[in-house]
Amino acid sequence: MTTQTKRGNYFDIQQSGQDRLETRATRVLGIRYPIIQGGLARIARAELAAAVSNAGGLGQIAMAGVATTPELLRAEIHKAKALTSAPFAINFPIGHLKIDALLDVVMEEKVAAVSLTRGNPKPAIARLAGSGIRVLVLVSGPEQAMKAEQAGADVVATVGYEGGGHLGRTDLTTFVGVPLVVDAVSIPVVAGGGIADGRGLAAALALGADGVEVGTRFIAVREAFAHENYKNALLRAAETVIVKRSIGQPGRALVNEWSRGFLEAEAKGTSRDVLLGMVGAEANERGVFHGDIEGSLLWAGQAAALIGDIPTAAEFIARMVSEARSSAERLARLAGAYRAGVSLSPAASVKVV
Ligand SMILES: Cc1cc2nc3c(=O)[nH]c(=O)nc-3n(C[C@H](O)[C@H](O)[C@H](O)COP(=O)(O)O)c2cc1C
Repeated sequence: MTTQTKRGNYFDIQQSGQDRLETRATRVLGIRYPIIQGGLARIARAELAAAVSNAGGLGQIAMAGVATTPELLRAEIHKAKALTSAPFAINFPIGHLKIDALLDVVMEEKVAAVSLTRGNPKPAIARLAGSGIRVLVLVSGPEQAMKAEQAGADVVATVGYEGGGHLGRTDLTTFVGVPLVVDAVSIPVVAGGGIADGRGLAAALALGADGVEVGTRFIAVREAFAHENYKNALLRAAETVIVKRSIGQPGRALVNEWSRGFLEAEAKGTSRDVLLGMVGAEANERGVFHGDIEGSLLWAGQAAALIGDIPTAAEFIARMVSEARSSAERLARLAGAYRAGVSLSPAASVKVV
C-alpha cells in the first residue's frame, strides 16, 4: 500500500497482509499499530526499540543517557537495524542542547522518525526538511500543538498530567488535553499520559486521537534496559508524585525515600542550585542501573498502578491491541443498542432511542 503524506513523500507500507489497526498516525509513521513507545531516558535502547517495532508499534531510542554523542547514536542505530527492518525513531529532549550533529547522523542513517521534546522544535524540523524523516513533537496542550504544526511537525503527541517523567507546565489531564489538541490541529494526534493497556488505547481513539504514546508501561517489559528492582517496584507501585515543580521542570516519579526527601527540600525553599544538584543523572542511575529503589529518582506515571506483569514488548503490544478491540466492540454494541432503540440494561426503566 502506498500513502501520500502531507509533505508529498510517498511511503511504502511493506507489511501488508499482516494484522493492523490503521489510523492516520500509522499511515504517516509506516507502522501496523498506533502504539508508540515513549523515549525513556537511559532505558530506551536498541533492544527495546527494535522489539516494539518488530511487534508493529514504533520503538524509540532515547538520546538522553543513551545516545548522547554522534558515535554512540550511530552505534545504537546500527544495533537496532540489526534487530529490525521495521521503522523506529530517535527521541531528542532538545532543551538548550546542540543536536545538529546528532540530527545529521539520523539523516545519514535514514532513520524513519524523530521525536522532539522540551524545547523549540523549529530549528530541528528545519534541519530535517526534505529528508523524508517523520517528525513527532511532544506537547502539553493546544497552544504548543498549534506551534508544532506551524513549524512543520508531522504528528503531535500530547502528554497529560498523569504521565511519567518530565511533564509540561499546563497540568492538563489526558482526558481534557487530548480533545483540546485534536480540535486545535489537523495533523495526527497521539495521546500519552496514563495509558497502559488496551482500554486506554480505545479511550484515546474515542477521544479523537490517532494513537498512543506509552512510557511507564514500557519500563516493565523484558527488553527495557532497567534494573529488575525498578521493574518489580512498578508492579507494587500505587503512588506517584510530582517533583521539581519549584524549579520549573515538573516530573512524575514513584513515591519513595528519595522523592519524599526531595519534596521536603523543595518545601523548605532549598535553593535551585542545590535542588538541581540533587536531581543530577546520578540520582536516576542509582535506580535504573543499580536497583536502589528507595534512594533514587525513579520516573513513573500514574499508570504504574495498572502494571501487573513483566511481559515481552511483543506480548504486551498484542494484548493491548486485543483489549482495545474488545473495548471497541463493547462500544459498538452500545451504539447498536442505541440505534435499535433497546434498553441498555434489563433493569433500565427508560428505553433509549
Ligand atoms: C523513566 C522515564 C523516562 C522518560 N524519559 C523521556 C525522555 O528521555 N524523552 C521523552 O520525550 N520523554 C521521556 N519520558 C516520557 C515518556 O516518553 C512518555 O511521554 C510518558 O511516559 C507517557 O506517560 P505514561 O508514563 O503515563 O505512559 C520518560 C518517562 C519515563 C517514565
